[in-house]
Amino acid sequence: MAEPSNGPASFWTQANALLRKSLTFQKRNIKTNIRLISFPFVLCLLLVLIQSVVNHELNKASNKCGCKCIDTNGDGQCEKVCGIQYSNAKQVKACSILNPPELPPLLQIPAPQYRAVKTDFTPFNDLPNSSCRRTGPCPATILFTGSNQSLGEILAGNMVPSSSSLNYSDIIGSLAQNVLGTASWPDSSNYLEPALSDPQVYVVQQQCTGNSSFSVAFQALSITFQLDVSCAQGLGGWRNSSSAVNDELYKGYRKGNTQGQINEIVAGYDFLNTNSNNFNVSIWYNSTYKDETGNVPVSLVRVARSVNLASNAYVQFLLGPAIKMLFEFVKGMPKPETELRLDLSSVLGTLFFTWVIIQLFPVVLTALIYEKQQKLRIMMKMHGLGDGPYWLISYAYFLSISSIYMLCFVIFGSVISLKFFTLNDYSMQFVFYFIYINLQISLAFLVAPFFSNVKTATVVGYMCVFGTGLLGDFLFKFFIEDTSFPRGWIIIMELYPGFSLYRGLYEFAQYSLTGNYIGTHGMRWSDLSDSKNGMKEVLIIMVVEWLVVLPVAYCIDQVTSSGSGKSPMFLFERFRKKHPSSSQRPSLRRQGSKVYVQMEKPDISQEREKVEQLLLYSSTDHAIVCDNLKKVYPGRDGNPEKFAVRGLSLALPPGECFGMLGPNGAGKTSFISMMIGLTKPTSGIAYVQGLDIQTHMDAIYTSMGVCPQHDLLWETLTGREHLLFYGRLKNLKGSALTQAVEESLKSVNLFYGGVADKQAGKYSGGMKRRLSVAISLIGDPKVVYMDEPSSGLDPASRNNLWNVVKRAKQDRAIILTTHSMEEAEVLCDRLGIFVDGSFQCIGNPKELKARYGGSYVFTMTTSSTYEEEVEKMVRCLSPGAKRIYQISGTQKFELPKHEVKIADVFQVVENAKSRFTVHAWGLADTTLEDVFIKVARSTQAFNVLS
Ligand SMILES: *[C@@H]1O[C@H](CO)[C@@H](O)[C@H](O)[C@H]1NC(C)=O
Ligand SMILES: *[C@@H]1O[C@H](CO)[C@@H](O)[C@H](O)[C@H]1NC(C)=O
Ligand SMILES: *[C@@H]1O[C@H](CO)[C@@H](O)[C@H](O)[C@H]1NC(C)=O
Ligand SMILES: *[C@@H]1O[C@H](CO)[C@@H](O)[C@H](O)[C@H]1NC(C)=O
Ligand SMILES: *[C@@H]1O[C@H](CO)[C@@H](O)[C@H](O)[C@H]1NC(C)=O
Repeated sequence: MAEPSNGPASFWTQANALLRKSLTFQKRNIKTNIRLISFPFVLCLLLVLIQSVVNHELNKASNKCGCKCIDTNGDGQCEKVCGIQYSNAKQVKACSILNPPELPPLLQIPAPQYRAVKTDFTPFNDLPNSSCRRTGPCPATILFTGSNQSLGEILAGNMVPSSSSLNYSDIIGSLAQNVLGTASWPDSSNYLEPALSDPQVYVVQQQCTGNSSFSVAFQALSITFQLDVSCAQGLGGWRNSSSAVNDELYKGYRKGNTQGQINEIVAGYDFLNTNSNNFNVSIWYNSTYKDETGNVPVSLVRVARSVNLASNAYVQFLLGPAIKMLFEFVKGMPKPETELRLDLSSVLGTLFFTWVIIQLFPVVLTALIYEKQQKLRIMMKMHGLGDGPYWLISYAYFLSISSIYMLCFVIFGSVISLKFFTLNDYSMQFVFYFIYINLQISLAFLVAPFFSNVKTATVVGYMCVFGTGLLGDFLFKFFIEDTSFPRGWIIIMELYPGFSLYRGLYEFAQYSLTGNYIGTHGMRWSDLSDSKNGMKEVLIIMVVEWLVVLPVAYCIDQVTSSGSGKSPMFLFERFRKKHPSSSQRPSLRRQGSKVYVQMEKPDISQEREKVEQLLLYSSTDHAIVCDNLKKVYPGRDGNPEKFAVRGLSLALPPGECFGMLGPNGAGKTSFISMMIGLTKPTSGIAYVQGLDIQTHMDAIYTSMGVCPQHDLLWETLTGREHLLFYGRLKNLKGSALTQAVEESLKSVNLFYGGVADKQAGKYSGGMKRRLSVAISLIGDPKVVYMDEPSSGLDPASRNNLWNVVKRAKQDRAIILTTHSMEEAEVLCDRLGIFVDGSFQCIGNPKELKARYGGSYVFTMTTSSTYEEEVEKMVRCLSPGAKRIYQISGTQKFELPKHEVKIADVFQVVENAKSRFTVHAWGLADTTLEDVFIKVARSTQAFNVLS
């Protein structure tokens, strides 16, 4: 284990070590990786599946232009022919229409059961009596108003013809002479007026007579329409003002009146200031009719007929009944065949892909927090890993994982030809994703210090993932689409990276959706200049955020990882602590130290003097020198300040193993934490290899080894890989490294039986412990701290470990804490018993035993009747004897060594045996354990008194 020291490892050596470790770690995590990569695969597959279902639905015959099998060339075989004539109203949308049919214009009139009647809320005498709803069809009412009532009534009388007339040799022409109306709703494409295949077609005239109904067939576009036309009486009603008309229309509307009765009116005409020189009319029409998708108001197609009625009435008023203004037919524009296409990846893609990409965030975050939670980061740091290499490699590592993930995602999406990927420019996608994953990794670094637990981070991370996706889709999207929403606010929302990701994906999706629909490409670089899409802003925001977040994350990490390593609150604590600090009150402090000096034992003050001498001559031949080191935890929530370490002075030459004994909570761990740089001392100085721990911790790390109380290991790395990693950090290379690792493994008995190549997570507690010790010793550190190295080991392994430590202490200083007196006696050259923040005694085990022992422990068990006799006997043997224990016949006495001879004891016992039955007896020298208990107890008693 005594390899030559090569000096501290360079930046690239450290980076290399970390990279290799990360790669191995990644290799072991193959299952997690597969799960990770499979997420986008599954989502894409899901998209493809839904897409095929949708395509199937869209390709159904009912969505395509209608076809029929007809024998066109007379060979007895039928051919499939398609066209508008074989289609229903729904199919027509898809047909190619070269010559749109000419169709009779229709007036929208209410269905018979809804036509207006006289009611409590519309008590006009010109409305029909409500009995018509039972007896037969009610007349359809049209309302009129205007500034000249007599003129208005003339016009109303001209509005609908008095009778129907039909010329079968010119059906379309003669239908135009009549007013045809329908109660059925129009359709968004009026190539085939749906009302014509509806039985509810009415001819509106002033009076219905017995022969008013007729049946007629007419041809348009080789389609034969069969119309069964029934009569509907058109009733004109004059109202005094336009507000009266308005009021009546409102009340007639379903739910417009409190009774819930429906009183529908055909239309309202306001002739305003119309006179013989001026035709001025405004028309109320029912605009509530919508097509089946519910968003296109299609009733305008019926409005044309209402306008024509008024114009015709005015022409007839001016020029007489012989002149007519005919509205013969309506005709749509010709159009090519259209296909219904819907690219789901563009519709659902934004949400799905937001999830897919943002999913990397919790992955990176938890990886970072795992190393922190398991204290692996600090462990690596204590073995010399600088922050620079750590950042470089971690960042590069996450970046490459993210890149591979995104690459798989895009490639897979393209292979299954999702339009989202194939239509948008690939270089643009690449830049967008690349910037985003960089930003995301920086963010993970930024927020990682605020978490200390992987589970919390996972929960918060995934809440972010799903929350962002859903908020984006159900909230942010509406803001983007609402053009009246201020753009500034959208930019502000996009400052949240999840939304800028959503926005970018949304724009890609929009471009691929329209690109697919009209059969062109998606987004191109040139589209950046289009102010209608937010792509440019999104890219700028993300780049700027990345450039800001990364350095900020680095600073926060610097503060938190070097300090208490707990929370960024650390920054503020430093300011808070200043006020009650004892260093601000020198007089008090001097008083305090005087008190200590007075009660200090000679061995302690001797150590203190030695330290002062060493500091005076600034000698560096001691590996560890601590001068009056103190650690005070500030009082919190009303609790007083806690003095964890009160003025500790210690000097350790190389080659010495110093054992720190002490009860739990005595402050040993606080002391070690200060020495290994986890916390900063409140006051006092300490030098390791001549370097100040306050300022040169990074340099100290390169010659320091730590075996922490709890094993800090990567579950998935093997023992050998751990040692290789830490060996490289300690600048071991090539064959020296392999040799050192092998020796190290052998020395802790982990070499044989393939143990070295088993993952550390599968080790038993003892094996982990031995590995931890091996790690602390690899690379020839000059100073090693071991916190209870042998706890939980079986006796054989413990002896083994002791041999390792014994060999290792030859040329280095070791500070060891332990609860095992046996261990302390075997390993340590000197011992210090540390109680309540300060040393109570320092010396080698023999000295301590002599100083604090000085007595034998005599035990005797008899029946309880002889207890007094035994006591008398012992007092006679040694007047200074003290009874320390008594229970049902068993008694323990402490006999000062100078008063008794062992031979006398035997004689007295023999004597006693002859008088009464002695069940058992014993005489023991004091052990280190007795010393420990004595020292600890006396100090605690003192503290209770003081
Ligand atoms: C109203 O119209 C009629 C018919 O054109 C006309 O004779 C009459 O003078 C008009 N009344 C007013 C007040 O303009
Ligand atoms: C019917 O229409 C034809 C063709 O336009 C015309 O010749 C004929 O005179 C019309 N008959 C009547 C009675 O109007
Ligand atoms: C309309 O006005 C006339 C005269 O101004 C009045 O007699 C009649 O009652 C009014 N009609 C209605 C329905 O208010
Ligand atoms: C307008 O059309 C809607 C939808 O059919 C109907 O509910 C409403 O009653 C109509 N309103 C009038 C005033 O006819
Ligand atoms: C038509 O009527 C409206 C409303 O009364 C009026 O503002 C407008 O000036 C009139 N137009 C003409 C040409 O008289």
